[in-house]
This record gives sequence, C-alpha cells and structure tokens, in this order.
Amino acid sequence: MVVHMNNDEQLRVLHVASEVLPLCKTGGLADVVAALPAALVAAGHDARIVIPGYRTALAAAAAMDVDWHHHPVTIEVGGVDHQVGIGVVQLGAVTCYLLACDELFDRDGIYGPTPDSDYEDNARRFAVFAKAALALPRCVGWVPQVIHAHDWQAGFVPVIRERGFGRDLPATRTVFTIHNIAYQGQFAADHMRLFGLDGWLYNPMHLEHHGGINALKAGVVFADQVTTVSRRYAEEIQTADYGWGLEEVLRHHAYKLRGITNGIDVGVWDPATDPHLPAHFTATRMAGKKRCRQALAEEMGLVPTDDSVCMVGIVSRLVSQKGLNLVIEAVSPYILDGRMQLVVLGAGDPACEYALRTLQGRHHGWVCFWHGYNEGLAHRIEAGCDLFLMPSLYEPCGLNQMYSLRYGTLPLVRHTGGLADTVIDVTDRQRGNGFTFGPFDVGHFSSVLDRALGLYRHYPREWQAARRRAMAADLSWTRVAEEYIGLYRSMVYA
Ligand code: ADP
Ligand code: GLC
Repeated sequence: MVVHMNNDEQLRVLHVASEVLPLCKTGGLADVVAALPAALVAAGHDARIVIPGYRTALAAAAAMDVDWHHHPVTIEVGGVDHQVGIGVVQLGAVTCYLLACDELFDRDGIYGPTPDSDYEDNARRFAVFAKAALALPRCVGWVPQVIHAHDWQAGFVPVIRERGFGRDLPATRTVFTIHNIAYQGQFAADHMRLFGLDGWLYNPMHLEHHGGINALKAGVVFADQVTTVSRRYAEEIQTADYGWGLEEVLRHHAYKLRGITNGIDVGVWDPATDPHLPAHFTATRMAGKKRCRQALAEEMGLVPTDDSVCMVGIVSRLVSQKGLNLVIEAVSPYILDGRMQLVVLGAGDPACEYALRTLQGRHHGWVCFWHGYNEGLAHRIEAGCDLFLMPSLYEPCGLNQMYSLRYGTLPLVRHTGGLADTVIDVTDRQRGNGFTFGPFDVGHFSSVLDRALGLYRHYPREWQAARRRAMAADLSWTRVAEEYIGLYRSMVYA
C-alpha cells in the first residue's frame, strides 16, 4: 500500500550507494539500500537510488528493462573526462539510476578482481561515481532535498557537494550512514586532486587520516547528519575497541551521530510465503518447519536424525569479523555426542574455507559446508534449522539474526552491535528470543552453545516459548523508516 500525501509533506531523498538488491550484492548493504527506499516510498515519499553501473548490475538491469533516455554526462576527474551514461530501472515502486562508465565499471568484480582485493583505481572509480551522482539531479530534472550516502564508496559525496560541485543543490542536506567502519576507503594524499578538493582540507580535522585521505572520515566530517545501523554500534564505534582508528573523529562528531537499527524485508523473508522453501509455516502452524528441516538435511546430504538432534546453521561472508574460528574450534565434541548437525553456507577467506572443509571431512554426514553464494539456500537454511550461529567479533547490525528470528530459528550471537539490539538471551524469561555471550573466546562460546543445545533437547516448552517470541518480533522496515523520516524532516524543515 502506498500512502498519498501532498507535495509539501512529501520528502525527496536520493540514496547514493554502491550495492542494491537485486542488481548487485556482496553483503547486507544491498538488502538495506533496497528496503529503506521502498519503505520510504510506501510511506508516501519520493525516494530514489543511484548505484554504479557495474557489469553485473547492468546485466541484471537489462533483464528487467532498463531505459537510457538521458544524455550521458561528462565528469572530469583529475584532468581526465569520463562519459557517464544514465540508465533507469524500476525496482518495484522505487526508481533506480545506474551510472555506466565502461572504462571504470565494466569489469568482472565490483571492488576488485577477487572478493578480498581492490582495484588500483578505486579512488578514481568512486570519485567519478560521487561526482556523477551529484550531477544526476540536473540531468534528470529531479532535485532531492536530502542526499543519503552509504558507506565509504559514497563517502566523498557530502564534501564534494559542499566544496562546489553541488552548486546547483544549495538547499540539499546530506546524511551519511556507516554500515561497517572496518572498511574505510583509505587513499594516498595525492588523490585530493582527483576529487577536486582544496589542498587546505588536507589536515586531521578534515580529510587527512594517517598520511592519506579517508573516504569514511570524509563522510562523517562533512555530512549534516551521520547514522549507523544499530543503536549499540553507534556507541561502540566511539571506543578504541570498535572504532578502527576513527573513534576520536566519531566522538568529536557525536552531536550529529545516531544509531538506527535496521529492519528486514518482511515480504521477502516470510516463512508463510517464501518461494524458496519446500513447505511454509507460521508461528501457530509449525508443521511446515519440520518439513523444511527434513528437506534441508536431504539437500545437504546429512544423515537423517530425529528431532532430538539440533539442526544448526550459518550463512555468512567468511571473514574474521564473523567469528567462524570460534565455531570451528568448538563444535566437534557436540557433533560427536550426537547433539547437533551443522550446515554452513558462505565464501571468503581461504583459510576459513579450508577449515570448514576439514570439519566436513571429519564429521561426514553431520557437517555440510556449501561453498559459494546461494540466495535460495540461505532461505532454506534459515527455515530448516533450529539454531543459527552468529558469534561476530563485531556486527554493525547483522541481518541474518533477524531472518532467523522471523523463521523461528533461535539465534546464538555475541552481545555486540546490532546483535545486542535484536537478540535477548532466554535467561530473560519474559522477552528472551535467543542466546547471547560476551567475551570473544572459545570458552564463552562453547558454554553458550552447550546451554542452547541443552535447552533444545531437554526443555522443549521453553524452546517453543522463545521461538514464539522470536517470531512475534516487529522487524519491519515500516517502523525503522519512520525514524529516518523524522531525521530527514528535522534537517529539511530546520
Ligand atoms: P554482512 O553485510 O556483514 O555480510 P549481514 O548479516 O548484514 O552481514 O548481511 C549478510 C547478507 O548476505 C544476508 O542477506 C545474508 O543472507 C547474505 N549472505 C551472506 N553470505 C551469503 C551466501 N554465501 N549466500 C547467500 N546469501 C549470503
Ligand atoms: C554491513 C555490516 C552488517 C550490516 C549491513 C547492513 O555489511 O557488516 O552488520 O547488517 O552492513 O547495514
């Protein structure tokens, strides 16, 4: 349902980001950049998206009918002119612009030739993207009141707008959202010229950071408002343990920093209708979940077991952030005792992949590691498991624990970031919807896993009560979008 409102109340917001579902995705950023504008449009506002026209994104858009009726725009960066084509595609009710520039974006990878490497010219690629995103309103004849930039790839948007390139957007306000402070976009100092930025900005109060320029810092310093994707993470990133060297910058700008905990797309992630599942279920009709569990075991080649064995799942980028090393070190005794089976879907760090393959080899029929990216399987793991593991060292928000809650799969998480905002330990008998632990070590992880498996096997009524509470949580973007709308209004009507 779309709410209709008059022009005075309707906000015009342009989201500038480097990923959006279903065009291109490496992580949760793509889910959020799709879902937040959709929720804004559903609330009656005019929210649009602009992303780089990567080869994969253009291919996905071509299959959906992309329109190239706008003239290409010439973007000058460091003395070189780039012709940038503007494609338009509808993502449901949301208009999405793709900025195509073959010499920069027509490549196999998005950020680098392999998932864990960077292209050498990333500064140029995202400088062109930032400038073209700011030229877009003039080209398409639509002027946003708010430009909402996401993560380091869009980090230079606020400063470039303020320092001249966005001259034709004088009243436009900027929001910058940090999805993960560990990825900052740090470039050599001489890139100031590429971005067309005045030399005097090269100082620690503005763009300089450890002898280079830092895109994430630029976003924080120059945006009118800064948000991050959970309340808890907004506090954490102001500390040395979680700030990745930017904690002081964030403390300095804390007056304009707030945490808004993400929602999830409850239409896409709905166990009652999910087309990826072999059977459907709701909180009051759970038989379908049992069928999902059996089908998952078959699909993963696990030996059939009865319900006393807990089916445990993981869907994750395999990077050190996600704490997979704790799982790999801790699970064997529980598997050998016949208390759990484990399915893991993910790709990333080769050492982690190797360790997961070894674990699978050691526990044939009890552990399955599916290497790669598989959207459908991610849904079937959420649906078919009893318990979901997310022992992250840090987690700005995390989406999978929320998908788990909605699918009645109790999340076991470390008490950090968005995991702390969304998962309450079952020791709280009124509100508990999962399991949490604090210190990041194998001992604490093992002890909470032991507790979870014990509750699963011996206290089914308590388990079911926690599952009901999990499935009842309001995780929708509708509520979260209201917070962003309040923020945008406070800036536009200040
Ligand atoms: P992050 O963005 O740090 O990776 P999130 O929990 O916010 O963490 O989001 C991860 C998203 O990526 C979720 O939508 C998850 O389902 C998805 N995902 C991660 N790895 C895979 C994979 N191998 N196959 C399918 N989906 C995946
Ligand atoms: C980042 C974070 C993740 C968050 C996602 C969406 O990828 O690592 O925790 O959920 O962005 O905001």
